Amino acid sequence: MAEIEIKIRDNGPYIVKGGVIVMDPDGNSYEVKDVIALCRCGHSSTKPFCDGSHKTQGFQSAPRAGKEGLRD
Ligand code: FES
Repeated sequence: MAEIEIKIRDNGPYIVKGGVIVMDPDGNSYEVKDVIALCRCGHSSTKPFCDGSHKTQGFQSAPRAGKEGLRD
């Protein structure tokens, strides 16, 4: 199985590399790409994908592994 990487961009989207399939709640899939940007700010007009709105909305989030949010 191919390895998938999800990288969090400071103040921006999740960059997903590895040819994932993104499906809506009905099980219909969006176009498959090797690299996609998923909205993390909630302001995109093309959810679940990033449209760059995080910049104009002033979204701020820069988590670091081991610093926050890790759960069992
Ligand atoms: S993260 Fe880019 S529009 Fe939400």
